[in-house]
Amino acid sequence: MERRTISSLAAQKAAGEPIAMVTAYDHPSAQIAEAAGVDVVLVGDSAAMTVLGYDSTVPVTVAEMLMLTAAVRRGLRTPLLVGDLPFGSYEASDELAVDTAQRFVKEAGCDAVKIERGGTSVQRARAIVESGIPVMGHVGLTPQTAATTGGFRARGRSAEEALTVFDSALALQDAGCFALVFEAIPSAATAAMMPRLHVPVIGIGAGPAADGQVLVWHDLLGIYGGSAARFVKHYAELRGPMIDAVAGYAGEVRSHTYPGPEHGYAMPDDEAARLRALIAAR
Ligand code: KIV
Repeated sequence: MERRTISSLAAQKAAGEPIAMVTAYDHPSAQIAEAAGVDVVLVGDSAAMTVLGYDSTVPVTVAEMLMLTAAVRRGLRTPLLVGDLPFGSYEASDELAVDTAQRFVKEAGCDAVKIERGGTSVQRARAIVESGIPVMGHVGLTPQTAATTGGFRARGRSAEEALTVFDSALALQDAGCFALVFEAIPSAATAAMMPRLHVPVIGIGAGPAADGQVLVWHDLLGIYGGSAARFVKHYAELRGPMIDAVAGYAGEVRSHTYPGPEHGYAMPDDEAARLRALIAAR
């Protein structure tokens, strides 16, 4: 598979070829995403909840995200790598936004960064793009500010609310974003907006009209124990087998079944006898 770029994603949209994006948060998940042939890997700030155990995406820091993102970079060759700028790392000023985006490119090897919301984020997106770093926008349900903007619910069930989502999407497109994430937006609203969007739109709970889809790694694989959003589809149920495997291991340790002879290293009998004699003489 050819290495994915901003232009190859635009070409996929133009050709009507759906774009497959997943999140990943560490080296092994990056290697699996690479082997599976996805187009885009996002190191989402969902890492806050999926791998770091926070209650929301808000507390995750730039340092935590950079460490996870660099690990993903080391496992990826082909997909485009997008780093998610965490809450508080870009909103206050263009300078802060550009500085943080540059750290994701220089320290973690990102091809692009993602920021959430319209409003002031439109200007931050423009500043980051002007500094030479591609930006993916994110509209609809934006988890970083969900607590202060109506909670975790779909956005745009009324025409007026959908229009505010549309205005944000257009503004981010005009600011130079190379792609947009649409999260938790009614399918009909997405379909109505698509003809005016010239950059790839990646949906999560936004219906089939989007140019591509993204799912969170732990949701896709059925690893995460928490309750799942309506748009989640589990392509595997790995939580049960993972618990069974670890419980099986612990049981075999306790019953002296593991490790067996095949898991150990051999030593010639005469060497072992000599060792016992040497130890006895110590
Ligand atoms: O953080 C994340 O995983 C995301 C995706 C849901 C798009 O923003």
